[in-house]
Amino acid sequence: MRLFYDIIADKRDNIALSDEDISYFLESYLTGQLNDYQMSAMLMAVYFNSLNDRELKTWTSKMLYSGKVLDFSDIDGFVVDKHSTGGVGDKISIPLAPLLAELGFFVPMISGRGLGPTGGTLDKLESIPGFSVNIDVDKFHKLVREVGFSMIGQTAEIAPLDKRLYALRDVTATVESIPMIAASIMSKKLAEGIRGLMLDLKVGKGAFMKTFERGKKLAQTMQTIGNQFDTHVDVLFTNMDEPLGYAVGNSLEIMESLDVMQGRYVPQVSELTIEMAATLMKTFGMVKSLEEGREKAETALKSGKVYEKFRTLAELQGGDPRSLDDRSRLPMANKKVEIKAASDGFIAEVDALSFGKALIQLGGGRLRQEDSIDPGVGFIINKKVGEKVSRGETLYTICYSSAAKLETAKEYLEDAVVISGSEVLKKDLILGNL
Ligand code: URA
Repeated sequence: MRLFYDIIADKRDNIALSDEDISYFLESYLTGQLNDYQMSAMLMAVYFNSLNDRELKTWTSKMLYSGKVLDFSDIDGFVVDKHSTGGVGDKISIPLAPLLAELGFFVPMISGRGLGPTGGTLDKLESIPGFSVNIDVDKFHKLVREVGFSMIGQTAEIAPLDKRLYALRDVTATVESIPMIAASIMSKKLAEGIRGLMLDLKVGKGAFMKTFERGKKLAQTMQTIGNQFDTHVDVLFTNMDEPLGYAVGNSLEIMESLDVMQGRYVPQVSELTIEMAATLMKTFGMVKSLEEGREKAETALKSGKVYEKFRTLAELQGGDPRSLDDRSRLPMANKKVEIKAASDGFIAEVDALSFGKALIQLGGGRLRQEDSIDPGVGFIINKKVGEKVSRGETLYTICYSSAAKLETAKEYLEDAVVISGSEVLKKDLILGNL
C-alpha cells in the first residue's frame, strides 16, 4: 500500500487519485489507522483541487457503505425522499412526506436538526408533545412499509464516515467544498434506499448557497452522484431571500404545516409542497404532466387524508394526536408583540437571515449542536414582499417567553423589513429547475 503522505501529495498536486487509493485512505480513517491531521490535509487538498466524477463516485460509495443501507426492494412502489439545503421558515418536508405517501410513494425521511439561522425538521416535529424522532432502523423500516412514510433523525448506523468527516470539515474550514457537500448529502440519502430524490436548492440571503451559480453547481454534482447510483435527482431552485410562508419557529411551523395538510391553501408553502409532489409524480410516470400532478396533489390535500396520514404516523411515533386536532395543546409562547409599519408603502424586503438569527436569540434555534430549543417562540410574518402596507399596520408578530431575549432578538430585526415608497414586484418562489 502507498504511504498516506504520497496519496495526500497527489491530491495536493492535482493528480487524480485511483479508486484503490481513495478506498484505502477512507477505510484507514474509519479504522483509526489514519489520523485527523492527515485527513485534514486531504480535505483541504480536495477543497482546492476538487474530485473528478470517478473519484466522487468512489468517495461517495465509501461513505455510503460505511454503514447500514436500507433495502426496500420488496416494496411494490417508488421509494423517494426530499432534501432541502436549508432555509428560514422551511417546513415543506412536514406536509410533503404524508402527501407523497397518500399519493402512493414510500418515504423513508431522515432529517436534521436546525443549526444556525436555518431550522430543522426534527426540532419542528419534536414540538408535537411526545413525538419521537429517535426510533430504531427496524421500526422505521416497518413504518415506511405500513404507513407509507416515517420521519426520523440521523442514526449512528447510517453513513458513520460522513459523520466523522463532517465534524472534521467543520473545524478545518473545509465544509464549503461542492463535491464534499454533495457526497455528504447523497451518501446519507442513498443509504435510505431511495430511487428518487427531490432536491430543494435554496438560493438567496437566508440560504447556505448564496449565489445561483454555486447552487447550480451543487445541484449538478448531486445529480451526477444520483446517476452513478441509479437514483433520479429532481431539482427545484427556490428563493430564500424572505422566510418561506408566514410562520418561523418550531411550533408555529407545525401549525402552518397542519393548515396545508388540512387542505387550506397557504401561499408559498402549499405551492412548493404541491410542486414537489407533482415533479416526483411526473418523474416516476404516475402522471402525464405536471399540471395533472398538481391537481392530484391538491385534491389529496383537500380530502383530509394527508392530515389523517400525518396524524397516524405522529401517534405511532409517540406523538399526542390530540395536540394536532386541538392546536391549543401545542407549545406556544405566552407573550406576543406586534411590530408596526412606520410608513405607508410596499414591502421591499423581509430578510430571512435576520429572522433566522433573531429566532436563535428568542431561544427557538441553536448555535451549537447541544443547545436546547424553546419550541413555542417565533414569528408570524403578517406582510410579505410586494404587499401594500399602511402606517401602523402590523408587519410581523413576535411570540416570546423572555423579555430580555425579546430585546436581543429585536436588535437583529431592526432593518429586517424594508418598506419602499414605490410599488415592488413579488418575487417568484420557484426560480427554476434542472
Ligand atoms: N449538509 C450535509 O449533510 N453535509 C454537508 O456537507 C453540508 C450540508
